[in-house]
Amino acid sequence: MYGGRSGEHEISLRSAKSVIAALDPERYEVIHYEINKEGKWRPGPIVPEPDGNPGIDVVFPVLHGTFGEDGTIQGLFELAGLPYVGAGVFASAAAMDKDVMKRLCRERGIPVVESVTLTAGNMDAAEACAQLGFPMFVKPANLGSSVGISKAKNCEELKIALSVAAQFDRKVIVERGIVGRELECAVLGNDDPQASYPCEIIPSKEFYDYEDKYLLDKAQTILPADLAADTTAELRRIAVDAYKTVQCEGMARVDFLLESATNKLYLNEINTIPGFTSISMYPKMWEHAGIPMARLIDRLIELAMERHAVRRALRYSI
Ligand SMILES: Nc1ncnc2c1ncn2[C@@H]1O[C@H](COP(=O)(O)OP(=O)(O)O)[C@@H](O)[C@H]1O
Ligand SMILES: [Mg+2]
Repeated sequence: MYGGRSGEHEISLRSAKSVIAALDPERYEVIHYEINKEGKWRPGPIVPEPDGNPGIDVVFPVLHGTFGEDGTIQGLFELAGLPYVGAGVFASAAAMDKDVMKRLCRERGIPVVESVTLTAGNMDAAEACAQLGFPMFVKPANLGSSVGISKAKNCEELKIALSVAAQFDRKVIVERGIVGRELECAVLGNDDPQASYPCEIIPSKEFYDYEDKYLLDKAQTILPADLAADTTAELRRIAVDAYKTVQCEGMARVDFLLESATNKLYLNEINTIPGFTSISMYPKMWEHAGIPMARLIDRLIELAMERHAVRRALRYSI
């Protein structure tokens, strides 16, 4: 299933193309579901009733962002009683919401960057100015691909950044800007998730914005990241801890910032449906670990079936 109503529609098409190309035609018969930008389904929608979709054994949602990665469509699969790849309803929604994700991680003792959360009607820059130093990063709480994100270097820029972010979400987070390195780690599994070796992203712009991610093709990636052994170990440990804290299943790409001045690692975000394009790091990190894309997809489908079997055995009433 691909496309979708989010700003990452095109990325989803690219991700889906890579996933489909990697599926073994001997093992899988692929049924394409494309959701267009208006939310219309082709060839038609999934029926939200158990046994309502007899032709489908498992769904692989290759949808990024709003209505794809945020628990909404996962809820439909639950109603339909269909096994599906990746995080469930709760983890999808919790990981999507950067404010909730950070609160869960803070409670668990996982280091996240200091931030202030502002909500519609109270987008006053003063609170953030008083608590955090410049530069600051301003983000809509529930979006991806750097859409609506700005770096603000002074109060004037902060006000503009807030009004930009507020166009995308009723909730906006303002974070202290970290000067340092960006790292990503792939996590795979249900009850016993495993972390890959991390990679480093070197943006070609001031930060890794939408243009840098998908249009410029100038950002560099280093796999495995050149880190001290103890930093790598710590990063992988935190990646798995954060994954479990948010109750992820199947897969997630867990992203970090490593502050140069302090050598401190911060968890930045958790992506429950990471990119699967030909240049995406989630499959690349597993490939580097000896799991090529075709096997990775087999494993994700197995994990989806395993979770479904466990859930189906649960009782909903006495
Ligand atoms: N606190 C921060 N300090 C420094 N850079 C940041 C910070 N937050 C975000 N960035 C930059 O902005 C990019 C996008 O932010 P991110 O939180 O990953 O949102 P998205 O979900 O849109 O990818 C990051 O990849 C990084 O380059
Ligand atoms: Mg990101």
